Amino acid sequence: MGWFQLYPPQDFEMTKSILDRAKAAGFHLLMITADVPVASIRERTKRAGLTMPPKITPKMIWEGIKHPIWSYYTLLNGLPRLRTIESYANNKDLQLVSGFVNNRLGGTLDWEYCKRVKEYWGDGPVVLKGILHPEDAAKAIEIGLDGIGVSNHGARQFNGAPAAIEALPPIVEVVNGKVPIIFDSGIRTGLDIMRAIRMGADFVLAGRAFVAAVAALGKYGGDHAAHILIDDLKNNMMQLGAANLDDVRTADLME
Ligand SMILES: Cc1cc2nc3c(=O)[nH]c(=O)nc-3n(C[C@H](O)[C@H](O)[C@H](O)COP(=O)(O)O)c2cc1C
Repeated sequence: MGWFQLYPPQDFEMTKSILDRAKAAGFHLLMITADVPVASIRERTKRAGLTMPPKITPKMIWEGIKHPIWSYYTLLNGLPRLRTIESYANNKDLQLVSGFVNNRLGGTLDWEYCKRVKEYWGDGPVVLKGILHPEDAAKAIEIGLDGIGVSNHGARQFNGAPAAIEALPPIVEVVNGKVPIIFDSGIRTGLDIMRAIRMGADFVLAGRAFVAAVAALGKYGGDHAAHILIDDLKNNMMQLGAANLDDVRTADLME
């Protein structure tokens, strides 16, 4: 069991091969990412000196000295690798693989592609992540997809995109309970989760909350972030007088 996330390759044979590997590895749900049509220009990332592969600079060495545990594990495990893709690039060199990712992934997603992926994936559910317009939600349901991921990629991708939370209500109206709605982008607290549920999401995803926690605490970080969010959600539900999430959805509030 598990969720597999697909950045759609241009070549459908490569798509099929990735999906076969995902199925063989035991993933049951497929999430197609629509929120990154192509890599975006991220000035802050550039300013921070983040490159693929990472450049060894005096600053990086200094940071490594200041964070010996991180340095120890990085030396032990080696630099990160893009394992899903590197066999298609026929190379393990991170620079070549990331060039391959930029040239061969993305730029192709359309409804026909989604239909083919859904057909190929077979029995398991297929969710489309990156929906911000109610007509797209309606179309996704029409072609048989099983869930709507309302997301603007955490506002990291396209500065002109609307806030995901503002895009949610009209999507909820169109979806009208036909498939689950997964809300993503900007979840930082339990109160954020409660608000998204109140506004019609069935459940939420969080990106940076978990990235930060794992960066700070390694393998314990994910659980730690989940505990913080759940405690905060429960506490806010109590403030509201809600015993469960259905109460959150239906509570009579002065809105
Ligand atoms: C470092 C980082 C890497 C990400 N990589 C992916 C990715 O490979 N595929 C994807 O669908 N979303 C990716 N995302 C976006 C998240 O899935 C999610 O949409 C976003 O982080 C949600 O916003 P939040 O960080 O405010 O919770 C990434 C986000 C971050 C911060």
